[in-house]
Amino acid sequence: MVCLHSLSLSNKCLCDSRGSRQLEPPFFGGHMIKIETPDYVEMDMAHYELIKATAMALKPSNILELGIGSGKVTSALIDAIRFNQPKECKLTVVDNWHDWNGIQPKISGIEQYSSYVTIVTASEEAFIKNAKNEHDKKYDIIVSDADHLNSHNWWSDTLSLLTDTGVAFFHDVKNPDYPKLCFIEYDADNHGWHTKVFNKSSRFTERCTRGLLMVYKN
Ligand SMILES: C[S@@+](CC[C@H](N)C(=O)[O-])C[C@H]1O[C@@H](n2cnc3c(N)ncnc32)[C@H](O)[C@@H]1O
Repeated sequence: MVCLHSLSLSNKCLCDSRGSRQLEPPFFGGHMIKIETPDYVEMDMAHYELIKATAMALKPSNILELGIGSGKVTSALIDAIRFNQPKECKLTVVDNWHDWNGIQPKISGIEQYSSYVTIVTASEEAFIKNAKNEHDKKYDIIVSDADHLNSHNWWSDTLSLLTDTGVAFFHDVKNPDYPKLCFIEYDADNHGWHTKVFNKSSRFTERCTRGLLMVYKN
């Protein structure tokens, strides 16, 4: 069995314990699935990159995304999975197609990832309550960007699905259109979780002020 113990970035090769080299498969990121949506639906680039980098660094086995929207965050998570090359990593994406009057839109490019991406048609609430009853089902990364008017009512159920070492993200927690989402930060704080809100914009076109909350336990 080959034991990989060092990674040379300069020549992009892996060395095994005997020093012999194997070529590392190149990584070409930026694979995008795409759903036709207005631009304002999308996660900002800074927050997209934060979620993607977290998934690349955390090496998750199970990821849950609530609310597909434009597919941008889904694409970030797929890119991270492709970068990590895990033996096994599943991405579950939940949407009730609220933004398309209940009818699933065309998700361009999703077919090629069907071995590890599952699209579940369900309301966020029904999915979370049901998953909570399946005690062994936990996720290393959760991205919540679906039921903006009600997510704060079951935030602790959502976080109960996170592994002890996992990281959760809640979008729009500083968005004045969804004033109750800010309670997730306060409640998570009060329960002893670590929280950090990212809500600074520097570029004219950014809407990071909508706020992305990061929550983790350990
Ligand atoms: C703001 S978009 C998500 C944007 C996405 N993060 C992106 O980067 O494009 C919200 C999504 O949540 C879905 N959604 C809204 N209410 C929902 C609910 N109660 N249950 C499940 N999905 C819901 C909408 O259909 C939409 O796809």
